[in-house]
Amino acid sequence: MTQDSTPYKIKARHVKFDWSQTPIQWIPGDPSSTHIINVLNLLFPAGELWFCRVYNKALPLITNPALRDDAEGFLRQEAVHSRSHGGVLTHYYKAHGIDTQPFTRQLDWLFGKVLGEQPFGLKIGKTRFWLRQQLGVIAALEHFFGYLGNWVLNADGLDVANADPTMLDLLRWHGAEEVEHRTVAFDIFRHMGGTYFERCFHMLSTVMLLLYFLTRGARFMHERDSGAGKYRGFILGWRAGARRRCLPSFWKMIAAALRYFNPRYTPHHEGSTEQALAYLATSPAAQAAAHGGNWVRSAG
Ligand SMILES: [Fe+2]
Ligand SMILES: [Fe+2]
Repeated sequence: MTQDSTPYKIKARHVKFDWSQTPIQWIPGDPSSTHIINVLNLLFPAGELWFCRVYNKALPLITNPALRDDAEGFLRQEAVHSRSHGGVLTHYYKAHGIDTQPFTRQLDWLFGKVLGEQPFGLKIGKTRFWLRQQLGVIAALEHFFGYLGNWVLNADGLDVANADPTMLDLLRWHGAEEVEHRTVAFDIFRHMGGTYFERCFHMLSTVMLLLYFLTRGARFMHERDSGAGKYRGFILGWRAGARRRCLPSFWKMIAAALRYFNPRYTPHHEGSTEQALAYLATSPAAQAAAHGGNWVRSAG
């Protein structure tokens, strides 16, 4: 173990989920929280696949063997995350008659054209500078994903609200792995020469991007759910969800973003690896993957 690596090997768990019993409002009676969290299902397939493309480029340039091991584990976990949330789009929303492509096409454009290998056709995409900026955006996003992972592991409001056990397991399995690998993206960004100024810039642009896609995505999903009722707007929906502890506090999210600007910031303190591993030891999907890979319907 080095100072900049996790104390053990990060490994992917090849989970599968059965969506046949999951209702469209998987948090019963709370369409606002359901559809705000659903934006993550729209975001992860394209976003985390892009993480993998960037990390495939970065791997040969990582000179610290322990960090390279971490990066490989991170890449494998993110590939399964992307595929698992992609399954939500193709097996779950589709079964409920929701075509997500009008929204996910924008994300494909963002991660393929704007943040991809040739941003707007420019040659800068082949430079180490651009790779470092890509790694910086990933580190900023991973700061939020680690925060959200820690939140969802402790979100007792979702249990009280009787959230669908399969969706809850997907979110908590993913959240636990985000907590497990929360240091990797930041360590790799620094290892590749990422500066404090770049870090601040990436966090500012990431907050704006997330807010844009969260507000648009929540409305997009709400309007496609015939049983969701009138859309009350993003702010009112979030506030009501946070009061029920089915969403994180907006202000705590802002505080989490501000922590990233602290020059002494480190992701080590954002969540507990022990708690994450304890959840993974009981997660129906992770346990099924550990014992042969057969999917099972999560127990209610
Ligand atoms: Fe992930
Ligand atoms: Fe991650």
